[in-house]
Amino acid sequence: MTTRGELLHYLKHSNGAWISGEALAAGLGISRTAVWKQVRALQGEGYGIESSPRKGYALRKASDLLLPAEIRDGLQTTRFGRQGIAYFPQTDSTNLRARQLAAEGAPEGTLVVAETQLQGRGRRGRGWHSPAGEGIYASLILRPRIQPQEATQLVLLAAVAVAEALLASAELPFTIKWPNDILVGGKKIAGILLEMSLETERVDHVVIGLGLNVNPPAGGLPPELAGIATSLGAAAGRTFSRAELLRRCLEKLEGLYDRFLAGEREPIRRRWHELAGIVGERVRIAGIDRIYAGRVVEIDADGFLILESAAGARERILAGDLSLADGGPERFRPA
Ligand code: BTN
Repeated sequence: MTTRGELLHYLKHSNGAWISGEALAAGLGISRTAVWKQVRALQGEGYGIESSPRKGYALRKASDLLLPAEIRDGLQTTRFGRQGIAYFPQTDSTNLRARQLAAEGAPEGTLVVAETQLQGRGRRGRGWHSPAGEGIYASLILRPRIQPQEATQLVLLAAVAVAEALLASAELPFTIKWPNDILVGGKKIAGILLEMSLETERVDHVVIGLGLNVNPPAGGLPPELAGIATSLGAAAGRTFSRAELLRRCLEKLEGLYDRFLAGEREPIRRRWHELAGIVGERVRIAGIDRIYAGRVVEIDADGFLILESAAGARERILAGDLSLADGGPERFRPA
């Protein structure tokens, strides 16, 4: 841990009580002036630290930033978020940064987070609206020893993990929209962009990028998103700690990933089906080169959507934009 991280640890664990500069200096093995400099730096990062010449220092408010120390505080994983967190107040895209780090050899579990992205990327070449300080924009590096065709299952896994993290945070009817959007009240709250790099026959690394709208942006959503997107805060009517939510996502992701590596893939697929509730629905899918229409049979073990046409023909679809015929059931319809 860095000296600043250690100082923060002391302040957090005194639960708001004063700690003298002398005691901190002794504990950290630095001078009182150095303690004061580190406190100033923490204040610069948004921590509300009160100081008094006689009493010392007391933490009044944690930072609202998604700083590595905030993410790690209480994180119950063994690898995810523990192998290094690259934090950017602003970057082009956390997925791009993660891919670069992975190409340079960053280990599995390395996390990239940003307060805002200038070129946040969505599926199918779209952008991802990334207002500063309101959402989670994070990318995780994985190095699974799997064949490229197995990676599609990680898309389902990531959607289930994020949906479970949301369900643990708020009592709201979250649903998954194929392949990996998370909706609440028919509006999108989170999206996942999975990118992989291959080595001849097998996967070298996978980057799972998560965009999660946590608290409503001060200026509201841009008009083109207002009817189709929302945030957790807007849906629940309260604000949420982004660090806590990201910890939950990492914990759920690691738990499911370990099961996936241990060969327990069927329970993940089953849970995906439960959360998506899409089997039997009539849908329309804009695929890469054509439109499909029919009734959903299932997501198969490889992660493909199986669609049955009116004539009874079955097709396996890997990716596309799904919409429900006739507006679909209530849970998929915007309020
Ligand atoms: C989608 O629904 O189209 C996927 C959106 C994924 C957005 C996230 S934000 C963090 C990470 N970095 C990116 O550039 N994209 C993903």
